[in-house]
Amino acid sequence: MQEDKEIFVEIYIKKDLLRRKAMGRKEQAAQLLKDSSWFQDASDSLVDALASKMELVEAEDGHLFVEEGKFITHILVIEEGTLVRTKLSVDKQDLEKARDSFRKTHVSRRSSIIQEDCIKVDEVKGRGRITGLLHNVHEDTQAYATITSVGKAKVWLLHGEDFREIVSSKPEHSLDMMQAMARVLRTGSKSLASLVRKAHKAGITDEDGNGSQVLKVLCYDTASWVSNGFKPAVDKFNSQNDSFRIEMDFTAERLSEKSATYAAGYDVVCLFVNDNADANIIQTLSLVGAKMIAMRCAGFDRVDTKAARAYGLTVCRVPAYSPYAVAEHAVALLMAVNRKIAKASNRVRMANFTLDDGLMGMDIHGKTVGVMGTGKIGQILCNIVLGFGANLICYDVFENDAIKKMGGKYVSKEEIFAQSDVLFLMMPLLEATHHTINEDTLLKLKKGVVLINTSRGGLVDTKALLKGVRSGIISGVGMDVYENEQEYFFQDWSARNIQDPDLVALLGSANVVLTAHQAFFTKEAVDKIVSTTIDNINAFQQGKTGQEHPNNCIPAVKN
Ligand SMILES: NC(=O)c1ccc[n+]([C@@H]2O[C@H](COP(=O)([O-])OP(=O)(O)OC[C@H]3O[C@@H](n4cnc5c(N)ncnc54)[C@H](O)[C@@H]3O)[C@@H](O)[C@H]2O)c1
Repeated sequence: MQEDKEIFVEIYIKKDLLRRKAMGRKEQAAQLLKDSSWFQDASDSLVDALASKMELVEAEDGHLFVEEGKFITHILVIEEGTLVRTKLSVDKQDLEKARDSFRKTHVSRRSSIIQEDCIKVDEVKGRGRITGLLHNVHEDTQAYATITSVGKAKVWLLHGEDFREIVSSKPEHSLDMMQAMARVLRTGSKSLASLVRKAHKAGITDEDGNGSQVLKVLCYDTASWVSNGFKPAVDKFNSQNDSFRIEMDFTAERLSEKSATYAAGYDVVCLFVNDNADANIIQTLSLVGAKMIAMRCAGFDRVDTKAARAYGLTVCRVPAYSPYAVAEHAVALLMAVNRKIAKASNRVRMANFTLDDGLMGMDIHGKTVGVMGTGKIGQILCNIVLGFGANLICYDVFENDAIKKMGGKYVSKEEIFAQSDVLFLMMPLLEATHHTINEDTLLKLKKGVVLINTSRGGLVDTKALLKGVRSGIISGVGMDVYENEQEYFFQDWSARNIQDPDLVALLGSANVVLTAHQAFFTKEAVDKIVSTTIDNINAFQQGKTGQEHPNNCIPAVKN
């Protein structure tokens, strides 16, 4: 039965192809329009008139149909193949330069440029799919994205002027077009309506009942300390500021593909360390009207800043809240691991006041302590380490004179691995620092090293770390961050089964002390996070957008 059906379908396709081959160009174009969702119910007279003006382009891979930011002059109707819509990741002022250079790139190389340097918006694929129609209802509409072909494609072009002339030449043509648009737009408008329902009265240009402007901010991943910190600070800001008011709403949900639509009607989204703002999510944020991402933390490794630039979103952060908080917590972790504080405390609670080898630690005094990353937090840590009377060695891509002055010595990566009795990771998570501790570097570490990571989980390959602990290369681990923490941290899992075997192994290891991303969490740091985030939003409202924002995270475009 299934086989008969497949044979039938195959014969049908072959017949259809033969029929189309026998048709003239105009008939082919008309049939294509009839196969599209826009013109399937349109009158023959409208379809024939449009088809008579259509031209076929047999495009190579990378053929450029539409350029971002330029006027769209044609409607594109696909007969075969795929078109991709992309945005160039540049600031508005650099768009023309980037567009010229893309246009001048040989057609065969455009696909690889799209892969490497552009943000993919979506694909328009298959027979009868149309793009550019709504843009050509009137003249002078600028393209939101660049459109190129992926592989070979057969695409029919209909000039916008011809389209407008034909549709407006007869009332029945206009009516036909309106009916087609009504049907296609009905589906779209239903989902749009559900977004707009969530949009309240927001928007930078909206006015509240008192006549002042309102800037709406949606805070994702909200715990009580976040709303308790922000609410009074926002009230205070509003009472002292006449030009506009901040209205901040809170959701406990993390930013995700689904929850990105909650941002409809908000100008700013305020995110924390584990909110995921990848290119797709940034596209949604931009489509629903958000214009700024205000990170309420220092790290922004989960934000695709290239995509943010392409969609014109400003991204800023709180560069330093309390470097003391993190440095002090790193030392607390070291001492907890070294002096077996958790184990000792549990035993004493059980009225076991004995001592045995399992509780024995080492003096930090006289040991070699390595600090990788001597920035704001690393430098404060170095000071504390010297207070122990330890021998301080450091590694950083930029040497910091203040460290040398205080008595620290910069060494190579190999040396810091080989010499450190205690190794602190204090650098940001970047491509270059991802899995700094891995299967290979593990073998370069001094046997018995204590490893402390308060920076980002991705600095350490957890499987290699566990191997190091089991083999004794690493005698103890203090960590405040974990590479797959996103799923677990800041949530109560005490009544659920943890599915992640590596996390289970870490929790089960007596040599590992793990805290759940709380190194920053002091009163002083939270106050600073709140005040800097409000300053950042205020600066944005005062026109400091993109690269001009004082706490901008988007890197400059490489020339
Ligand atoms: N656990 C927490 O609660 C918490 C809180 C705040 C910050 N952090 C983390 O701490 C990290 C450090 O914060 P900071 O304020 O000191 O940052 P910072 O930017 O002041 O310092 C980072 C240092 O790392 C160095 N560095 C960059 N690339 C390097 C590389 N490839 N190898 C070696 N060093 C490199 C930089 O040159 C700089 O000196 C942040 O990136 C963040 O991820 C964690």
